[in-house]
Formats: sequence, structure tokens, C-alpha cells
Amino acid sequence: MLVRLLYASRATAPLITSVQDSILEQSRARNPKLGITGILCYSDDLFIQALEGGRDEVCSLYNTIVRDDRHQHVRILSFEEIHERRFGNWTMGQVNLAKVNPSLLLKYSERPVLDPFTVSGEASMALLEELIATAQIIGRAG
Ligand SMILES: Cc1cc2nc3c(=O)[nH]c(=O)nc-3n(C[C@H](O)[C@H](O)[C@H](O)COP(=O)(O)O)c2cc1C
Repeated sequence: MLVRLLYASRATAPLITSVQDSILEQSRARNPKLGITGILCYSDDLFIQALEGGRDEVCSLYNTIVRDDRHQHVRILSFEEIHERRFGNWTMGQVNLAKVNPSLLLKYSERPVLDPFTVSGEASMALLEELIATAQIIGRAG
């Protein structure tokens, strides 16, 4: 059975490229074996990640990720059973939120600043859907 889990967290320290790179490298090395797909959005202090796959695999990976000391204040935004994947093309796509058009952020929030901790999980998921629609996700599955 397929599920999708969406969470947000705060980076423990201002994000530097080497940290992003190492997280993406770990994800792209492990997720294919687990049948997990998804995207990781980041700014200098924030992560939003969608994980899709089997329920056991997604829950187990989430339990690993939540203990990672590169982030904190991890909050589940949504968890749902799904019929099909939305991020099936990405072992772990990436989106630099600093490069996303502010008007897209404004569409789902009160201000053109992304705050997944205050908007609904549905609004965060709608934003991710728009990122797919507007082709702003980098790194397709190999
Ligand atoms: C925001 C964030 C997202 C992560 N996403 C993934 C992921 O999708 N897949 C993964 O294997 N590890 C991910 N990690 C890393 C894991 O927490 C953990 O460090 C890694 O799986 C351990 O890999 P290793 O056993 O190869 O060292 C993420 C870490 C952070 C901070």
C-alpha cells in the first residue's frame, strides 16, 4: 500500500551547500532500494520534504530522518494513503525555495514567505504540486 508523508523542519544551522549535497546524496543512494520517491525543498533555515512509497518504508525512513541532528522542530504536515505517486519521477528531487517565484508562495500564504508551520498541510501540498506543474524540481530519477 502506498502512502505519502509530508513534513517540515527547521535547519539546526544555516544551511550550507555541503549539507544539502550530503542529504541529497544519502537520499539518492538509499531511496531507490526502498522504493521511495519524493522531493526535498529547502531554504537557508527550512526543510519541507515529501516521501512516497510503501507504508513500512516511509514510516521507517521518517523515523531515521526525524533523529537527524541537522534539523529540528520536525512536524508532520500530512500523512495519507495514495493511489498513485506524485513524485514518481524523482528519487529525491530538490527545490531551492529561495529561487521560487514569490507570487507562487503568495498564492497559498498570507505573505510571500513560506511558513509551512502555519498553513494547512493541504496548502503546502498544493504548493508542491505547483512546483511540479511549473517544472521547478531539479534531479530526475536515473
Ligand atoms: C531534511 C533531511 C532529509 C533527509 N532525507 C533523507 C532521505 O530521503 N533518504 C535518506 O536515506 N536519508 C535522508 N536523510 C538522511 C538521514 O537522516 C540519515 O542521515 C541517512 O539516511 C543515514 O544514511 P547512512 O546510514 O547512509 O549514513 C535526510 C536528512 C535530513 C536532515
